[in-house]
Amino acid sequence: MALEVVTRSEPLDALAGSIVLPVVPEFRLDESISEGERALAEWVMRAARAAGVIGRVGQVAAVPPPAEWHAERIVLVGLGTPEQRTLSDIRRVAALTAKVTTDAGGRILVWPVVGLLRHPIESVVQAIVEGVGLASYRFHRYRSSDTLSGIERLVVAGTGQGVETASRRGQIVYETVNFARDLTNEPGNVLDPERLSGIAWEVAQEVGLQCSIYDRALLEELGAGAILAVGQGSRREPRLVHLVYKPGNGAATRLALVGKAVTFDSGGLSLKPAEGMERMKGDMAGGAVVLSVLRALPALGLPVEVHGIVAAAENLPDGDAFRPGDIVRTLNGKTVEVISTDAEGRLLLADALTYAVQQDAHLLIDVATLTGACAVALGRGGSGLFATDERARDLMLRAASEVGERMWPLPLWDEYRDLLRSEHADLKNTAGRWGAAINAALFLREFTDGRPWLHLDIAGPAWSEQPGPFGPPGATGHGVRTLLRFLELWAESCAGAGGERR
Ligand code: BES
Ligand code: MN
Ligand code: ZN
Repeated sequence: MALEVVTRSEPLDALAGSIVLPVVPEFRLDESISEGERALAEWVMRAARAAGVIGRVGQVAAVPPPAEWHAERIVLVGLGTPEQRTLSDIRRVAALTAKVTTDAGGRILVWPVVGLLRHPIESVVQAIVEGVGLASYRFHRYRSSDTLSGIERLVVAGTGQGVETASRRGQIVYETVNFARDLTNEPGNVLDPERLSGIAWEVAQEVGLQCSIYDRALLEELGAGAILAVGQGSRREPRLVHLVYKPGNGAATRLALVGKAVTFDSGGLSLKPAEGMERMKGDMAGGAVVLSVLRALPALGLPVEVHGIVAAAENLPDGDAFRPGDIVRTLNGKTVEVISTDAEGRLLLADALTYAVQQDAHLLIDVATLTGACAVALGRGGSGLFATDERARDLMLRAASEVGERMWPLPLWDEYRDLLRSEHADLKNTAGRWGAAINAALFLREFTDGRPWLHLDIAGPAWSEQPGPFGPPGATGHGVRTLLRFLELWAESCAGAGGERR
């Protein structure tokens, strides 16, 4: 069951469900506490001491409510000292309260809007809604008995236009992440390139985006030889999806988000080992992020023109599959010798980036589960960020740190470009084991036409093996929240630059 978020102005003791009461170490029972609040404050202090919650970030305990309250239980939660209390902490803490509540069998969670030093109330409300919305995510559509649902109703106890708006924004954010997670968790037999493009089409109709879809015949006409090569070993034919968001009042800048969507990556003839291959249904996480972000843009109304370009294919070995040694002609005319059919993502992106250049995007951003090497380097915690533009890179890192996703800059060392030389073609698609994440990025750069470009390798964080505060194992939607924030910052920075095109 999907989460419903409402705001309520009644006093806490009149509300049903599980009620969160924050415990903050700076709290003092002194004259500043009004008579009405004193009794509750004393109750919280006593209950917190008994439950061992001294206010450290993330400490959490469910206890019975005070007599006379309508609540099922009270969830005491530590928020840490004001100095260490970041919005990411608040988001994570909110997620923990959702987990403790569902573990105890609760389905309704009440968060009072608390005035927390340091942060505007709107940001706090948004972080709470995001945290609960992410933690309550489940992918249970293929389970016959759905016993483990998350929070079904979040009550934000507070009033005012600011609270409403912030709550609405929080909802857009978590729904956008969870939509990307849904797409990524869908298995390869259900979500193939055709279905993915069908969903893109439906989304475009629903929220109001332009949408063009290239099937095999149209890709041939276009000359997207790399996308066609990757897809030719599967009976499920490849697609290129092009979505466009145009703001109502014109835009200062045009940007392209480009996603890798391999609906299943077996490695092709350069077959992957069997162990863990099932996770390669998630090799379309980048495409899912792009599609989902585009879906959110009309509601957010940002003044940037955004093109969402998703290259979708299934990489399988077959009598028609492309082979090592094949030379393919990409959309921008460069030829590529295929060394490994398992380095398929960069082939899809080569054509998708060229297509983005053809749309005259001023900034290109691609998102891809591109290399195991990037996951080896940075682990599952964060993605690698490659950039040819400092301003865009700095804004992306700022956006990531604001929303609490980890991204880390990796270099584009020109010397390594030589490793991609091929004897018989303009480029080859792999350059050995060492620095494989960098080499992949250098390969992509060949298709950016020298334009400002960011490349996000999300191979590590796109998928989580363990349950975490933000939900069960599986797709994480990593990148969605950062990109949404980045687009805001980018729009501001372009408007600040006098609205000139760049
Ligand atoms: N989809 C994989 C990368 C990947 C690996 C994503 C693990 C998530 C988890 C990609 O298509 C791939 O196979 N990359 C190869 C490149 C190599 C052949 C140069 C890799 O990383 O091993
Ligand atoms: Mn591969
Ligand atoms: Zn892949």
